[in-house]
Amino acid sequence: MKQISLRSTLAAQDFNNKRVLLRVDMNVPLENGVILNDYRLQAILPTIDLIQEKNGKVILASHIGRPKGADSNLSTKNLLPWFQERGYTMDFEPDLEEAPRYSFENSDTILLLENLRFFPGEKTYDEIFAKQLADCADYYVQDAFAVLHRSDTSVTLTPHLFEKDHRLIGPLVEKELVHLNKLIADPKKPFVLIIGGGKITSKLPLLLNMLDLVDTILLCPAAVFTPLKSLGKPVGKSLVDDKKLNECKELLSEAEKKNVTIMFPVDYQVADQTIDGPLSAVDADAFPENAVGVSIGPKTAELFAQEIKSAGTIFYNGAMGFHHRPDTLEGMRSVFQAMQASNAYTVVGGGDSITTAQRLGFGDAFNFCSTGGGATLTYLSGHELPGLSPFV
Ligand code: 3PG
Repeated sequence: MKQISLRSTLAAQDFNNKRVLLRVDMNVPLENGVILNDYRLQAILPTIDLIQEKNGKVILASHIGRPKGADSNLSTKNLLPWFQERGYTMDFEPDLEEAPRYSFENSDTILLLENLRFFPGEKTYDEIFAKQLADCADYYVQDAFAVLHRSDTSVTLTPHLFEKDHRLIGPLVEKELVHLNKLIADPKKPFVLIIGGGKITSKLPLLLNMLDLVDTILLCPAAVFTPLKSLGKPVGKSLVDDKKLNECKELLSEAEKKNVTIMFPVDYQVADQTIDGPLSAVDADAFPENAVGVSIGPKTAELFAQEIKSAGTIFYNGAMGFHHRPDTLEGMRSVFQAMQASNAYTVVGGGDSITTAQRLGFGDAFNFCSTGGGATLTYLSGHELPGLSPFV
């Protein structure tokens, strides 16, 4: 499977007091301006520190969410206190036309730009917008691993406006690739892939692509329900993508041809009628018509724990259960506990999975937590990451 290895040369630079446009992914969940999970912010602090150590003036650029125009809840301004509480001197510039004129009276100040997706040019591959951003700085550093699967202007066009020796990848991108490459280059066997969460559409290419690498796939709610329905099994009112039933059938038959074991839960935790209904555990073959599957049941937790125990490599993607209902998170807890106890090389990817891991106290339990959701799946699915092309 295709691998890309890139080395960040940031540590060897002297930025000589020049301005560095640092593209990061600070797309963190925000509720009324409050940061619900700061994993992606923590992950970029070493890059900021390194640029400052190497005499660079940092201009920080990111998107948050999928806004249609300006939206105060998604403004990067909400992130200022987080950085200030950690001792960083911050300034904020909502107007990109002003940013090139910023004087950096204190060279340690970080200039935070407004959410790039507030500007229509970010999503329209707009050369004028690309230049406007490039005019802010003398160097471009790409450390936004989680958005490298997008063709957003700041990711794909802006870096090309810097000379080759003035555009660099950051240490986080290097680290992500190193860890993800370990999954695809000669992984220790058996390789167990654990897939949960919604959005079966984004997971099918990963599942198909990884059939040549993995030995066992543990399918978990809600990703399991479309494949299950494709086999004619009862799924009640669980989340199903009816347009993907045929692809799921193909996946299951490909897996059989390639000798990959696909394990379905033998029981489920279900909620009656809606995800907020009363909870119970039911056997897979007695799935009630009015039930919504939310997580695996206790028998499956034990069964999956056995598989996890003997694994050499594990990749987990897609959370089960709901944060607003802690009693739906026990299935996740059991899987994480088994992963923590195993001797396997363990990687968790995807914002929801990492948020859940941290909330349940497993933040440090794995070999690597990828900051990427879609980007990680895209890379492991064997597809191009457009954001890497200016650097390869
Ligand atoms: C992510 O959260 O996966 C990235 O920040 C990309 O966000 P997007 O899916 O809105 O492009």
